[in-house]
Amino acid sequence: MTDPLRLGVNIDHVATVRNARGVGYPDPVRGALLAAEAGADGITAHLREDRRHITDDDVARLLAALTVPLNLEMAATDEMLAIALRHRPHAACIVPEKREEVTTEGGLDAAGQFERLRPLVGALTAAGIRVSLFVEPDARQIDAAIRLATPVVELHTGRYADLDGEARADELRRLADAAALAAKNGVEVHAGHGLTYDNVGPIAAIPQVRELNIGHFLVGEALFVGLGEAVRQMRAAMDAAR
Ligand code: PXP
Repeated sequence: MTDPLRLGVNIDHVATVRNARGVGYPDPVRGALLAAEAGADGITAHLREDRRHITDDDVARLLAALTVPLNLEMAATDEMLAIALRHRPHAACIVPEKREEVTTEGGLDAAGQFERLRPLVGALTAAGIRVSLFVEPDARQIDAAIRLATPVVELHTGRYADLDGEARADELRRLADAAALAAKNGVEVHAGHGLTYDNVGPIAAIPQVRELNIGHFLVGEALFVGLGEAVRQMRAAMDAAR
């Protein structure tokens, strides 16, 4: 029997639409509550260095309003560490961040930044925050997560989502191998980036994957069917593949 698969809904792009006009709507907190009501097991929000979507106030309001866990995505900076320690979300996923990128392009180089990450992971863990590293499906990166003793890795599915044919099948094998390696070493496996109704199945079918974090597609789909319905349909696609 495969372990259940959780869905974390990333509400960043509700804030992107709001910020396009500099007004108060649509409110990502309202999106988060709707997503949770429709079956999301958790909410993910990325407080970027340039605050292009989620703001500090959004994080505070999410934590005040949510009854499901908040996973705060953050860069490995002193500023973000201080914010995480102040708010103490359920989980913190450490992501690479470049100001000029459109979205999180590529995983964190946990192996290359090992010494920089060690105190950050230690401080978050000591505060009771469940730390995750967003990494490429690469044995070197999984090994770094094991040595850093993070309880979770989130595998970057962006390349998988962008590829097709044999190249996609190869990337899927890399994801499955990385998931098996992490799980064998006691690290919980999450995955995300670029997932849609059409490509989620093979990722949901990897037995070691315990959580998917999905945002951009769901917020886009919400324009046509509403966020609750988009979340329900994604849940159904995940469950069908499991
Ligand atoms: N997981 C992580 C760590 C991310 O940075 C993102 C994008 O913010 C996602 C999941 C969700 O990706 P998408 O918005 O493409 O579904």
